[in-house]
Amino acid sequence: AINNGNTLRVASPASDGTFELADIDWDNLGFGFMPTDYMYIMKCSQIENFSKGELQCFGNIELSPSAGILNYGQGLFEGLKAYRKHDGNILLFRPEENAMRLKMGAERMCMPSPSVEQFVEAVKATVLANERWIPPPGKGSLYIRPLLMGSGAVLGLAPAPEYTLLIYVSPVGNYFKEGLAPINLIVETEMHRATPGGTGGVKTIGNYAAVLKAQSAAKAKGYSDVLYLDSVQKRYLEEVSSCNVFIVKGNLIVTPAIKGTILPGITRKSIIDVALSQGFQVEERLVSVDELLDADEVFCTGTAVVVSPVGSITHQGRRVTYGNDGVGLVSQQLYSTLTSLQMGLSEDKMGWIVEL
Ligand code: COI
Repeated sequence: AINNGNTLRVASPASDGTFELADIDWDNLGFGFMPTDYMYIMKCSQIENFSKGELQCFGNIELSPSAGILNYGQGLFEGLKAYRKHDGNILLFRPEENAMRLKMGAERMCMPSPSVEQFVEAVKATVLANERWIPPPGKGSLYIRPLLMGSGAVLGLAPAPEYTLLIYVSPVGNYFKEGLAPINLIVETEMHRATPGGTGGVKTIGNYAAVLKAQSAAKAKGYSDVLYLDSVQKRYLEEVSSCNVFIVKGNLIVTPAIKGTILPGITRKSIIDVALSQGFQVEERLVSVDELLDADEVFCTGTAVVVSPVGSITHQGRRVTYGNDGVGLVSQQLYSTLTSLQMGLSEDKMGWIVEL
């Protein structure tokens, strides 16, 4: 039971085992924002640690116009998902990994961060409070968006004097408008997402604003998204605006190595382990555009995009298609293994699932 002022909600199944569901069109979820019932807020000052947070009704928040996040971009976000199983239980996928990545990012952005336990407990409380927004099995998931921000006021450039962890949720379906169909990417040769020594390797909000220009231009030309190259040699793959990238050649699966400019995706890491467990050879290293264009299959990974097969890549006017514009067999196999695990349809031998 969650006590929220005058409202008391009971997050448990009805006696007949059914669940109350929000009254929305569950068959047509995309990846759009939908307000839900509750959000979680936890604050701390620069010198204290995060202590107790609380659930509040979902709504707008008040921030000083001088808040560190608004003026200087001192902010990080995370993304994870909750799935509803057929038996009604709720599953989270590796939430401790998000907590640890947030810690790493907070260190880079000069922010305090909640402990792993505080983060995971806050995520669980937010999901349970919004249980009626978790899609029925097979219809999608509840996307969980933790934000860590410099909420205190600053004027000169400095770390903010106060920090807020805010967690909100929204029910989602497929990320790309293509649904589960392969996406079409264009290699960006002018603009870059990250640079050595910069913040490309942490999930800071500014990394995502920085890709909007190239992404919008690509979408206007009919592409699904942009694939970025390294900013020094301009020849090696980095990532797509919102996800990591993998190439497949025979039994070999290759993805760009994490070296400060690439976001250490939790789906990326999980797919590497799944692929190794299925007998694939996996390499994390430099991947050139030439190697990309010569691959058998290409796919993207991310919490939001899950495993998205790539149907075509366009680079300097040359368009290469993969698997006859279809879904590559390896991409399909990895997608099925991962999503079965996340949805509780297969045994969790990896110990990745947290059941609420
Ligand atoms: C995620 O996959 O959860 C992300 O954070 C990417 C975001 C741009 C939707």
